[in-house]
Amino acid sequence: MKFIIDTDPGTDDAVAILIALAHFTDEELLAITTVGGNVGVDVGTRNALRILEHANRNSIPVYKGESKPLNRDLLTAEWVHGTDGLNGVGFPEPSKSEESIGAVDYITELLKNSDEKITICVLGPMTNIGKVLNTNPELAKNIDQIIFMGGGAGFGNHTPVAEFNILVDPEAAKVVLSSGAKLVMMGLDVTHQAISTSERLNTIHETGTTTGEYLVGLMGSLADLEIVKQKFPDGTPVHDAFVTAYLVDCSLTTGEVTNVEVEVDSELTLGQTVVDTNHISGRNKNVHWMNKVDDEKLFNIITNTSKLLP
Ligand code: RIB
Ligand code: CA
Repeated sequence: MKFIIDTDPGTDDAVAILIALAHFTDEELLAITTVGGNVGVDVGTRNALRILEHANRNSIPVYKGESKPLNRDLLTAEWVHGTDGLNGVGFPEPSKSEESIGAVDYITELLKNSDEKITICVLGPMTNIGKVLNTNPELAKNIDQIIFMGGGAGFGNHTPVAEFNILVDPEAAKVVLSSGAKLVMMGLDVTHQAISTSERLNTIHETGTTTGEYLVGLMGSLADLEIVKQKFPDGTPVHDAFVTAYLVDCSLTTGEVTNVEVEVDSELTLGQTVVDTNHISGRNKNVHWMNKVDDEKLFNIITNTSKLLP
């Protein structure tokens, strides 16, 4: 299995990337591509490099991606992830830079030339993937699956109906949703079922590794947000972790294959993913929409990550 991670690191992105680094080799995790989202793409790119530096995996290339959505200004979330994007968690300074070509060119060439289908893990706005498939729609056949954190059936986290990743670039999401690629959706409805409780954070802390310390810092910082505490008194969802944990163990989540579309016009509901949970639209069943998770399994994977990395 060969895959790439497209990301806007981002605290929960960092958890997801650490899970991947702990469980997969450089022959499997081919590259990290970055995109503007939680923070600007330069900050996110530096964070991807910092995470690789920590894990001693500088052999994995980082390609800087799009700084803004296809047709809109960038919306960021420093209020959640901090201006450094990692809420001050002490990852080291990077000792290398990103590659000279951009993420869109890299992904395009990879999909054109790979002798096996590629899995794409999308942890942020879909701008990079949307741009690749908008320009080269035929490349969807070279994608094994796109596993993405985004959207939700019925509620949002940035507006009443829109989840952040999709809201940032709804046009890119529309391209991906209509691409014909196999899509696995980790939306808010499933990510809200697994919470980083203090008991779980303590178990990770007790592994005694620096990775464990970073994981606790990343998830603990999210849990400290007042808006999070109102909904989750002890802990927080770790949205992006679902994507790479699913690669580790695809029994992590279950769901249904149904139709998912995205709103790109309405000001009121921009970025809403309309999930046909009752299978009544008659539209193409384009997404494996996940709606249940084994939350213990998820946190076992995260705890193992803290044991497998330094
Ligand atoms: O809504 C949660 C998603 O938006 C996560 O991917 C988080 O990192 C932010 O990108
Ligand atoms: Ca993210």
